[in-house]
Amino acid sequence: MALNSVTVKVPAKVNLQLSVGPRESDGYHNLVTVFQAVSIFDEVTLTKSHEGSGVTIAVTGDQTHGVPEDGSNLAVKAAQLIAEKFDFSADVHIEVKKSIPVAGGMAGGSADAAATLVGMDALFKLEATREELLALGSELGSDVPFLILGGTAIGTGRGDQLTAALSRGTYHWVFALSTVGLSTPSVYSECDRMRAEREIAAPKVSDALMQALLAANPEAVGDSLVNDLQSAATSLRPALTLILEVGRDYGALGAIVSGSGPTVAFLVADEEAGLDLAVALTASGVVGSVARATGPVPGARVI
Ligand code: C5P
Repeated sequence: MALNSVTVKVPAKVNLQLSVGPRESDGYHNLVTVFQAVSIFDEVTLTKSHEGSGVTIAVTGDQTHGVPEDGSNLAVKAAQLIAEKFDFSADVHIEVKKSIPVAGGMAGGSADAAATLVGMDALFKLEATREELLALGSELGSDVPFLILGGTAIGTGRGDQLTAALSRGTYHWVFALSTVGLSTPSVYSECDRMRAEREIAAPKVSDALMQALLAANPEAVGDSLVNDLQSAATSLRPALTLILEVGRDYGALGAIVSGSGPTVAFLVADEEAGLDLAVALTASGVVGSVARATGPVPGARVI
């Protein structure tokens, strides 16, 4: 029997390193980033619909605020793009069950696009290669390829040119979520503004971070976390500085703004430390809500 529907589970990401080079003439920045996929998942279900009905979308779940339910949703663009490339008409309904924080620096929109590419491939039996899916992903957004790959990876170029990284062990995270998002382009612009007069060196991978990941050493990973967008994010959202401090005071091994923010990521020693920190952050009154997760986990997968 022909498959009528598929569901894809896709993780969020945190950047263990996000080193930002100067702004290029195309407006983008050359990056060196180290991604880790973490266990907060969206579920994207694709169902074939009547010929001529095109791509439709519905968003459900506990993190739906501000997610567009129209053609501007990156998942819709992903379905249209892969159908165009494989030359068929995309008549499909997309249901996104969201748990990844929206506009939070955890690549929620990119994750749904990644899941849609993987799901369309399975639903329409396209037999796209991994390379083809990654290339389509990078047309949609810089983080999309990583959410297809998952695990731990180094991203260069716009962050979309990936090499799998060696990492041992499981890392425990607590995320402090904000109710109001931050726009990625405005955080990059603020970063440019703050750097205006300075010479910016080409970014390179942190050896200390790579060694720490190889050694399964969460303390050393905590010490090596680096995000060049952090000062821009805290400049636009000063309350983040306080959240970072509260987490450090309560014993986090590392505290960092996740991607372009405003989600703040805390690395902790183990599950128990994560529970303690989650309680402390909530009790502090400076954090709206918290989420806990572990990483690395696989990328977008049909379930
Ligand atoms: O590629 P994506 O659409 O996810 O990027 C969103 C925005 O983030 C871009 O419009 C750009 O302002 C900024 N960006 C950047 N350099 C990168 C990746 C993203 O300036 N390497």
